[in-house]
Order: sequence, then structure tokens, then C-alpha cells
Amino acid sequence: MINKNDIVEVEIIDIGINGEGIGKKDGFTVFVNGATIGDIVNAKVIKSKKKFAIAIVDSFVKESEYRVEYKCKHAKLCGGCQIQHLEYNKQLEIKQKKVKDAINRIAEIEDFEMEDIIGMDNPWNYRNKMIFPIRKQNDEVKIGMYRSRSHDVIDIEECLIQKKENMDIVNAVKDYINNFNISVYDEETNEGLMRALYIREGFKTKEKMVCIVINGDEISNVQILVKKLLFIDKSIKGIVLNINKEEGNKILGDKIIKLHGEKYITEYIENVKYEISPLSFFQVNPIQTEKLYAKALEYANAKDKVVWDAYCGTGSISLFLAKEAEKVYGVEIVPAAIKDAKANALLNRINNVEFFVGKAEDIITEERKSDVIVVDPPRKGCDEKLLETMLKIEPSTIVYVSCDPATLARDLKILKEKYNLDKCVAVDMFPHSMHVETVVKMNKIIKK
Ligand SMILES: C[S@@+](CC[C@H](N)C(=O)[O-])C[C@H]1O[C@@H](n2cnc3c(N)ncnc32)[C@H](O)[C@@H]1O
Repeated sequence: MINKNDIVEVEIIDIGINGEGIGKKDGFTVFVNGATIGDIVNAKVIKSKKKFAIAIVDSFVKESEYRVEYKCKHAKLCGGCQIQHLEYNKQLEIKQKKVKDAINRIAEIEDFEMEDIIGMDNPWNYRNKMIFPIRKQNDEVKIGMYRSRSHDVIDIEECLIQKKENMDIVNAVKDYINNFNISVYDEETNEGLMRALYIREGFKTKEKMVCIVINGDEISNVQILVKKLLFIDKSIKGIVLNINKEEGNKILGDKIIKLHGEKYITEYIENVKYEISPLSFFQVNPIQTEKLYAKALEYANAKDKVVWDAYCGTGSISLFLAKEAEKVYGVEIVPAAIKDAKANALLNRINNVEFFVGKAEDIITEERKSDVIVVDPPRKGCDEKLLETMLKIEPSTIVYVSCDPATLARDLKILKEKYNLDKCVAVDMFPHSMHVETVVKMNKIIKK
């Protein structure tokens, strides 16, 4: 039995979803915050349940050979990079294993080809989008990142997974708030104006969008801020306000007001051009997105075929598939995303695509036959009704793009009734975090 306040020696043999170390002791699973794979620690138990305990590191018996120095000065406090203290190659190995284990354990599939994980050559400065919450703590304006497992904001002087120049924008906004005494949003009272700063950039086009999220309709002296931002960063293509007066954690509201330039930026994934508005979903790591979409295209083998792209967002995968397919149908629940998808098809003069607004599980019916179905659902995975319809349509190939190995494996277990898992590859879209993206190819089982 392990009790609260016990100090137990544990060898860390795995890592949990938030980057915490996992070890075993007397039949208990012990989750140790601050420990990583390969460490042996004396862990102080802070919570004890029937089968598991939660602990913090009291002292190190032996430090892991995979530990590296934190490169970012805020990494220990910030909730963003959970495993920055692990060698990058070890991070990749852990992610690869996480995907394989989920498929073996949850889907109960053993026999498939697992390709090597696709990592980054340079796993830094990769994000094209950052959202910085703005808060006032101890009478001081903070623009930065949430502290790990909390809603406290820590001021940041650097963030090594995004572009360095963003810090000049952060500092300019902070100076403006202080100089003009602009009120700052308070989550508890839902009062105060400045809620968040959101920056998005096209890596290939170098176009930048600055979006200031406010709990109101306007802010005073804003043109002074606009002038300052345009002076310090020549790549800014547009500056907008986003109006969010809702209580709660939702970051963006629905209304955008233009302060300067355009309401969108453009970006290329390979030779496909996308116009991205502040409210549209777009993958945050453009370098890895090219590799991810190339895999989806390779696995779909869509030449001259009819393809469904379910959960298509702004149609980014659909337009990629349309380069080879005879016809691509995309379906997405958010109307604004489909508006962007249609505009992007026109922009690229792609006319063998058709987009539908609605739930994938309602729009894709048994009668809407296709040779290939590509799905890229949110973390919760595919709706069961859609999986059942897919089993009735019986496309020759299903390509599943997933951001959560557990729900992916759950869905594969259903699809394996009629499909063999052929190939699978993990793609590291978020170095230094525990997140991993996976692309899977399933082939219809041919009965003899
Ligand atoms: C992971 S994103 C994929 C977007 C796109 N494939 C891409 O790579 O940019 C998942 C998308 O599914 C959409 N979505 C969520 N539930 C849905 C549903 N039931 N039917 C259709 N789309 C849905 C979300 O709005 C989101 O755009």
C-alpha cells in the first residue's frame, strides 16, 4: 500500500499524456511530476488511490541519460513544452511507441507495417500561430503563456517554438496597455478589455496577421498601437480586433473588425495556395504539414478515383487530393471553414472538388459511394454512425489522419471488421509536447 506523504523509490519506465514520468511500485502505477523516462527518483506521494498514486520528485537517485538542459528559460513553468528536457530522438521514439502500443492494445491489431516516425530536422521555431493570454496579476500586466496546469499567466521573454520576432509585438502591446492604461480582462468577473494577443504567419509568404482579442467593441488610441506595430514589423499584412464578450475559456469570438490591411494572410502547402482568415483552422506546423499531407496523398492512392474528405476544415487536404483524384467531396461542420474551402478551390483554379456544410456522419450516406475515404477528425475521433456508413460504402481504401492515438485505435477496432491495417506512420507536428499525429492506411479485405 502506498499512502499520501510516503516517499518511494521509483524507476521511470514510461511517460504520461502530460509528460509526467510513470513507474511501478508494489503493484501501484506511480505518476511522478518532474521525472522523465530513465530517471530513478525518490518520489513524494501527494495523492493515493486504489491502483495508482500521484507524486512529485523529492530527490534524484539517478538522472536519466536522455535528459538534456531546458533550452528555453520558461520551459519548467510553462505548460507548452512538456518534454523539452528529453533528447529529441528519445521524444520521437516515445511517440512512435505510443502510437504502436495504442494500436496493439486498444485495436488489438498486431500485423501491420509501422513506418519510421517523421520528425523535424530542426525542432524549433516551428509554430505559425501563437495565442498569448493577457492578464493582470499583482497589478502587473502579463502577456505570455499559461503556467502548467493553471490559468496563471507567466510573462515570457522568449518562446523557442515560435518566431523570435513575435516577442517585439508582445512587448509593443504591453507598452500600449500600460501607457494608455487600458483595462485587462479578468476571468472571474468577466470585466476588463484586453483578453488575448493572437499572431499568425505564413512561413512561405512571410505574411503576418496580428489579432487583438477584446471583451468590448473598441479600444482607445488603437491607431497609435497600429502605427507602432507596422513600424516594428514590416511583414504585418493585417491587424484586426476580435470581439469576444463571452464568459469562459473560449479564446476567440465570432466577430472580426479590421484595423489595418487585410483580414487574411496567404500561405502555401507545396504549390497549393490558401487564404487563411483569423477564425479558420489551419495546421500550426507548416513544415510538417507538407509531410503529413504528402503521406495522406500517398496512402490514398487517389489517381482518377472518387474521394470523400471527412472533417475537411478549410479543405486543405481536399485540395491536395484533388491534384490526383477524379473528384473530391469535402464535408465540415463549421460554415466559415467551408466558405474558406470554396474560396481556396477558386484561388487555385481547382474545380473537381465539392464542399458540404454539416456533420460528416449525416452528409456521408451509404448511397454516396466513393473509392477512397479520408477522415481527419478532432481528438474525440470519428462518430460511430460515420464508421458504420464507411463499412457499408466499402471504399477500397480508408486513410485515417488522427491527432489522438487512443481514439484512432478505438475506431480501427471497429473498421477492422472489413479492413486490414496496411501501413501507419506517426508525424511529429508538435516537438517538445506529448502530442503526435498519425496517418493510417486501411485496405478492404477481399474475400476469396
Ligand atoms: C483536425 S481538424 C482537420 C481539418 C483539416 N483536415 C486540416 O487538416 O486542416 C478537424 C475538423 O473537423 C471538424 N468537425 C468536428 N466535428 C465534425 C463533424 N461531426 N462533422 C464534420 N466536421 C467536424 C472541425 O470543425 C475541424 O475543422
